[in-house]
Amino acid sequence: MTWPNVLLVTSGLLGVGSALKDGIGLKPHMGWSSWNVAQCNAASAKYALDTANKFVSMGLKDLGYEYVNIDDCWTTKNRDSQGKLVPDPSKWPNGIKPVVDQIHSMGLKFGLYGCAGAQTCAGYPGSEGREKSDVAQLTSWGVDFWKYDNCYTPCRQNPRPQTCGNPTGNSSQWYAPMRDAVIGYNTQQTSVAKKMHFNLCNWGRDNVWTWGAGYGHSWRMSVDNWGDWASVERIGSSAADIYQFSAPGGFNDLDMLYLGSSKINANQEKLHFALWAIAKSPLVLGLDLNKISASTLAIIKNKGLIDINQDALGKPASIFRPPGAAAPVKGKIYPYWAGPLVDGVVIGLAAGTAAGRFGVDFKDVPGLQGGRSYVWKEMYTGQTGNGTSVSFDIGLHDMRVVKVTV
Ligand SMILES: *[C@@H]1O[C@H](CO)[C@@H](O)[C@H](O)[C@H]1NC(C)=O
Ligand SMILES: *[C@@H]1O[C@H](CO)[C@@H](O)[C@H](O)[C@H]1NC(C)=O
Repeated sequence: MTWPNVLLVTSGLLGVGSALKDGIGLKPHMGWSSWNVAQCNAASAKYALDTANKFVSMGLKDLGYEYVNIDDCWTTKNRDSQGKLVPDPSKWPNGIKPVVDQIHSMGLKFGLYGCAGAQTCAGYPGSEGREKSDVAQLTSWGVDFWKYDNCYTPCRQNPRPQTCGNPTGNSSQWYAPMRDAVIGYNTQQTSVAKKMHFNLCNWGRDNVWTWGAGYGHSWRMSVDNWGDWASVERIGSSAADIYQFSAPGGFNDLDMLYLGSSKINANQEKLHFALWAIAKSPLVLGLDLNKISASTLAIIKNKGLIDINQDALGKPASIFRPPGAAAPVKGKIYPYWAGPLVDGVVIGLAAGTAAGRFGVDFKDVPGLQGGRSYVWKEMYTGQTGNGTSVSFDIGLHDMRVVKVTV
């Protein structure tokens, strides 16, 4: 197929992320994924429908949470005699399609998980060599989203290990056939509602952010978020270096929001959510909505942060260095972040390494000017003001996000 080369010519308006130009992924996707909830055991109709119901009853759907995504282990261990994937009958007693239909009837979307290698990470059938047939199967069920992992892919080790340390080539080689199958399907659809979102999960290998926009609608830019503070630091800090590769149609995926476990504290949860939001990461909940605490629920329902994440410009915030501030430290979350919005500028102030008083003069913020006042609002405290600067006392690992209206 010749389309990738043709379509890689991007328009100035839509930017780098729009290479596929099929109308999908114009904003970071929002939803839930089953993996962190109960790993393989959560890959079932029961979890999918329960989550869809919770999206509605808990007001999450109204805030934009849309995709109910089932991760690894939804099939049987073997394909059928025709080479088709078989939904595990103990997890999907009526198959996939009735579940998708029901989720669609609720105004939500449904996603599944596959893998570019011979097997998925948990050892279920991978899609290598079967890309077109698998996409035909998925789309016949109405699947809206396809996360595509990187286990058991071509490797110089024999037999291939789950995670290859010495690949035979660039992972784009094994993402291309699935990309062609998905986009081949998408380009035949007249309705955007029928198209499928293709999420690359190659763990940030081969600098995927530099080519992901020609392959999918979002791409994981790192290895997994393990749910600990070190993961938030590792992923959050590196997002600052690659912000320019996200744009409507293709976004850096910082991995699931790992809130609601006991691995990080309340401040760290606030920073995690806020940083993912302003970095324009997909907002995909990796938690059990049956067990969520009131404080975590309040964070994931922060409408101001969600609106910033879903801003139509789709430009991530990155770090800037105000006069007198220390230089960024690799692997640590820098205090000063800013990025453009359709109607303003977002400023993030993160106490990533120490508590303290953090502030900025608006004249030092990219996109703002000196010699005038700006109206602003902070998203966690609800504090508002009108002036030439802001500052806050911020506890260790907490964050404040200010929207400045211009
Ligand atoms: C991997 O392949 C992509 C797509 O062809 C290319 O843009 C990129 O430069 C390659 N990366 C490396 C590290 O070779
Ligand atoms: C903000 O302050 C400036 C300068 O004092 C004033 O001119 C402007 O009307 C104020 N805006 C609002 C919305 O209060």
